[in-house]
Amino acid sequence: MPKYAKRVETLPPYVFSQFQARKKELEQNGFDIIDLGIGAPDLPTPSFIIQKMIQEANKPENHRYSPYQGCSDFKEAVAEFYEVHYNVQLDPATEILALIGSKEGIANFMSAVIDTNDTVLVPNPGYPVYQSAIHLAGGTPAYLPLDSTQNFKPNFQSVSQTDLAQSKLMLLNYPNNPTAGTVELNTLMEAVTIAKEHEIIIAHDAAYQLVTFGDYKAPSIMQVHGAKEHAVEFGSLSKSFNMTGWRIGYVVGNPELIKALATLKSNIDTGQFLPIQKAAAEALRSDLSTVKDNNNLYEKRLNLAMDGLEKLGVRANRPKGTFFLWAEVPKGFTSMEFANLLLEKAGVIVTPGSAFGSLGKDYFRLSLSVSEEQLTEALNRMGGIM
Ligand SMILES: Cc1ncc(COP(=O)(O)O)c(C=O)c1O
Repeated sequence: MPKYAKRVETLPPYVFSQFQARKKELEQNGFDIIDLGIGAPDLPTPSFIIQKMIQEANKPENHRYSPYQGCSDFKEAVAEFYEVHYNVQLDPATEILALIGSKEGIANFMSAVIDTNDTVLVPNPGYPVYQSAIHLAGGTPAYLPLDSTQNFKPNFQSVSQTDLAQSKLMLLNYPNNPTAGTVELNTLMEAVTIAKEHEIIIAHDAAYQLVTFGDYKAPSIMQVHGAKEHAVEFGSLSKSFNMTGWRIGYVVGNPELIKALATLKSNIDTGQFLPIQKAAAEALRSDLSTVKDNNNLYEKRLNLAMDGLEKLGVRANRPKGTFFLWAEVPKGFTSMEFANLLLEKAGVIVTPGSAFGSLGKDYFRLSLSVSEEQLTEALNRMGGIM
């Protein structure tokens, strides 16, 4: 057997793949499985983005290697997006970097800023990629608990002075996966104040920034005065424009940190295909009407799911953003037992909260990225076994 690196061997198991493997097995045996574990939109990429991509793909000059930091059209579009939607000014040359999806950027950022044994404050519960990236970079996680009584705001007060003093980097993520928690700008201001006081770098993962409901508008950490001295913000077109497979995102903020990440990346990858960057620029410059249409659709599904869960006696906060519902596991089950029960007895996949950290243990995550019919059917099936 070939031996591979310990850091890979010791990566935490990816719970999602276990459920996917069991799903395949059950489907092969003729069972119809409804997957509410998916973290990606089920909707197509808007056609104006596809058209732009085709147009650009037909130009031979776009078939070459793209500039390491992203093409100027894309970076300028990101700057315009921040100006128009957040009244934030960014220099495309030094404060913006194109990414091959924000996951790539977050994982490489970890290696670019932390040294072996450096401490990283990471939300609990949180997106599992943070943990894996810290592990691969040789860092040590310390936990930033999200407060279930405060719509999953970070509970900065509960972090020990030692952890604050030792942490080099703090990860934040709003609108939040998996809890669907959202914050107002004052929470991000508080984070920047703490970062300044303790000399901590902030990486704000804003992948769901545009997936919001009603009047709620998710703030950008770049709106906080002085944020650029301490923070970067990761953005993604995956969720807002249904472009998960296209692999395009960006990071903005502190120029030194952007430069460090760009240097690391220039040794690993060579930028996203130019037509994809140019199509993404078109998306960011749009009036966001396709984003609003998506959000309206998710909101209808959300209403349906909230009603259904209430009838089942399952409690969940009504989210203002993301396409997730974070629901409480019925008494008497662990989150893993409950998720297994739903899969085996009802043919419904949900994600056990424990997959996102110790503070997820009493919850399960349900995704709204299936049709209303499937959602109704899934809730009916759940009712049948509860
Ligand atoms: C919180 C969060 N951040 C980042 C990502 C990565 O998105 P992408 O790499 O497609 O931009 C995801 C995807 O599921 C996510 O849930």
